[in-house]
Amino acid sequence: MKPIRNIAVLVSGNGSNLQAILEQHPISVVISDQPEAFALQRATKAGIPAFVFERKNFSSRTSFEAAIVAKLQEHQIELICLAGFMRIIGKTLLDAFPKRIINIHPSLLPAFPGLDAVQQALSAGATHTGCTVHLVDELMDHGPILMQAQVKVEPSDTLASVLEKVHREEHRIYPQVIAEILSGKIRLDEIA
Ligand code: GRF
Repeated sequence: MKPIRNIAVLVSGNGSNLQAILEQHPISVVISDQPEAFALQRATKAGIPAFVFERKNFSSRTSFEAAIVAKLQEHQIELICLAGFMRIIGKTLLDAFPKRIINIHPSLLPAFPGLDAVQQALSAGATHTGCTVHLVDELMDHGPILMQAQVKVEPSDTLASVLEKVHREEHRIYPQVIAEILSGKIRLDEIA
């Protein structure tokens, strides 16, 4: 596998996962689809080039993604980390970066894909939940699983307390997965 050097992180919001990643790995570029995302301030503070692409400024998802692909190629990106990027990835991005887009989701996939995954787990009465880093495919919160971490849901827990536990695990495993991809312990090309 060709060595991966240049990493991009795609965000839409707070960017706490971006923060965890950039504290452990050099990031070449941050891209947001939301101009107000706090993640952009984190990137700027860390001296990372950051760009905004708003879907409403493009006539189609294809042209929106093509603009993002061009920016990623300009920065010679070899790994794309979705970190709270609130969009389904389409064919244009997937075809440009096959087996090179990963995502983190706050549940033990395949359980509870989609929005409000921690609330979904609590509403279902789950005694455990957690987070998953996976390779991205054309479906939402779907694709081969690279790493998971579990957290226990105690009777005394609230949504806020479980969210905090899940985030803590996210911030631990996302940089770890990236480290294992960079070291060759996780071989993306060999994942079916
Ligand atoms: C995280 O819970 C992540 O799993 C999900 O979106 C949230 C992003 O949080 N995909 P942040 O922007 O990294 O703080």
